Amino acid sequence: MRNFFLITLCCCFFSIQSLAQLSSIKVAKGNSMAVVCASPYASVDAMYMLKHGGNAFDAAITAQLVLAVVYPQAGNIGGGGFMIAHQKNGNNICLDFREVAPSKAHKDMYIDASGKLQPQLSKEGRLSCGVPGTIAGIFEMLKYAKLPFSTLIAPAIEYAKDGFPITERMANELNATQTEFLRNNLNPTAFTYNTEWKAGDMLVQPELAKTLELIRDKGVKGFYKGKTARLIVAEMKKGGGIITRKDLKQYKAIYRTPLTFDYKSHQLLTMPLPSSGGIILQQLFAMTSSVGMDNLLFQEPKAMQLVVEAERRAFADRSTYMGDPAFIKNNPMRLLDEQYLKKRMQDFVFGKAGSSNVTGAGNPYESEETTHISIVDEEGNAVSLTTTLNGNFGSKTVVSGAGFLLNNEMDDFSIQAGVPNMYGVTGGDANAIAPRKKMLSSMTPTIVLRDGYPEIVVGTPGGSTIPTSVYQTLSAILDFNKSPEEAVYARKFHHQWTPDKIFVEEGFAENTLIDLRRMGYQIQQRSPIGRTELIVITQNATDKKKNIIAVADKRGDDDARTEQSE
Ligand code: GLY
Repeated sequence: MRNFFLITLCCCFFSIQSLAQLSSIKVAKGNSMAVVCASPYASVDAMYMLKHGGNAFDAAITAQLVLAVVYPQAGNIGGGGFMIAHQKNGNNICLDFREVAPSKAHKDMYIDASGKLQPQLSKEGRLSCGVPGTIAGIFEMLKYAKLPFSTLIAPAIEYAKDGFPITERMANELNATQTEFLRNNLNPTAFTYNTEWKAGDMLVQPELAKTLELIRDKGVKGFYKGKTARLIVAEMKKGGGIITRKDLKQYKAIYRTPLTFDYKSHQLLTMPLPSSGGIILQQLFAMTSSVGMDNLLFQEPKAMQLVVEAERRAFADRSTYMGDPAFIKNNPMRLLDEQYLKKRMQDFVFGKAGSSNVTGAGNPYESEETTHISIVDEEGNAVSLTTTLNGNFGSKTVVSGAGFLLNNEMDDFSIQAGVPNMYGVTGGDANAIAPRKKMLSSMTPTIVLRDGYPEIVVGTPGGSTIPTSVYQTLSAILDFNKSPEEAVYARKFHHQWTPDKIFVEEGFAENTLIDLRRMGYQIQQRSPIGRTELIVITQNATDKKKNIIAVADKRGDDDARTEQSE
C-alpha cells in the first residue's frame, strides 16, 4: 500500500510539473484500456491507476475526485450523479447518487409571501442546493475497486494543495462568474481573484485539500458527519439554506436495475428514473425505427425531421410523466411499450412539421454543466459515469472552511408545478418538489454490449440535450456506420417539445436548414451541444484482438487516453 502511495505521489508530482505542457488528446487508439473525460489532469491520473493495478472503478474514482478539483465548473464532491457499469463477470451495475431535496423542502418553496415565483433562488445560492450524493456514490464504487482509497484520492489532494495551471477556457469561465461568486459567498473563495484570471494562473484550493484529507482518513463519514457536515450546515445558516445535519446523515446512494433494451444486434444499458435520459434514449430508438431510419442518409433533412419529431414526443412524455420513481403514481415502463411508441409516430408525415400545441409543454431551461467519464480496463470492466453540480459552478456557493462548491440541483425540479415559470414553460406534478425527493435528471450514462461484451461506453453533459446527444452519437454509429470521431464531432440538433423549435449547432449546410424551414420548422442556432466522451471497442475478425478508439469532444478541454499492450 505504501508503495502505491509513493508511486502515486511521484506520478502526481510529474503531472503537476509538466501540466503547463500537458495538452488534450482528442482521439486515442489502443488495445487494452481507455479513459475519456473533461480534463487531461484527470484522465492522466485515472490512466495511471489502470496501469498500476487498478480497474475501471479505481480509475473512475480518481477521475471523479480529480475533476472535483481541476474542473470546478461541473466536477464535484458537492453534487451528485449516476453510474452504469458492466463487470468482467457479466454483472451490470446501476448506481444512483443523485442529490435529494432537503427534508424542509416543499412544493412552493420558491414562491414568496406575495405569491410571486422567485426563480433565481432555485438557480444560485444556498436555497438552490440539494443534499449532495457524490461521496456516497464514490464509496459504493469503491466496493468494486482494487486499490486503497488513500491511493485513489492522492492526486486530487495534490492538485488542491499545490494548485494547477488553468486553461484559457477555464480562466474565461472563472472571470465570467466573478459577480455570482461575490454575490453568493460571505467569505473570499479560491475562485475569486483580485484581477482577471488568465491561462497558466495557478488555482490553489487549500480548504478543499483539507476536506479531501478528511474524506481520505474518515471515509464517507468524513463528508456526511463531523467537521464537513458541520461546515455545510453552518454555510446554510449564513442565509437561506435548509440542508440539516440529519439530511446529510441520512443520505444513501441507491442501486437500481439498469434500463436495458436491444437495438439491432446490440444491447444498451442505461439510466432509469430519476433520470429521464434512458427512457428518452429508448423511446428515440423505438420511435425512429418504427418509421424507418435505414433508407435515410445521415443528417439529410428527412432523417433530421424524423429525429426531431421523435424528440418532440419523448420530451412531451418527460414533462408530463417523469420524476422520482418513489413519488410518481404512473408506471413509467408503459412509456416504453412498443405499440405505444409506434402509435405516437402514427401522425408523423415526412416533409410536414408537427406542432407542440398538440402535444404539450416541457422544461427547456435545464442547465448544461455536467461532466462525463467513460472508462474501460484490461480485464473487461466498463464504467460510464455522469455527475453534475447542475449549473456552471453549481449554486456558486462554496462551503466556507471546506472549499467545495455546492450544487444548484433544486432547479431540476419543476419549481412551480403546473404553472408556467418565468420562461413561459410548465413542468408536471411528477417532478414537483417534495421533501427527500430526487429531482428529475437527463443524465444518460450508457454502455452498449455486443455478445455480452462492452462495445461502446458513452455519455455527455448538456442538460436536456444529454439524451439527444447520446442518441445522435449512437445512431451515427449503429444506423449510419460513422466512425467514432465522426459520431462525436458531427453537429448536433435538438428539439425538446417546448419551445417548438429546432436548436442547431453552427455549421449545418444552409440547404438543409432551408429544407427544414420549408417543412414548417422554426430553427435557432445555439452554442455547442454537449461534450460527448466516447469509447468504442471492436474485435479484430482474424486474431480476435481488441481495438479501442477513445474520442474526447472538441467542444471542451476534454481528453482521451488509451494504452497499447503486447
Ligand atoms: N443537472 C442536469 C441533469 O441532471 O440532467
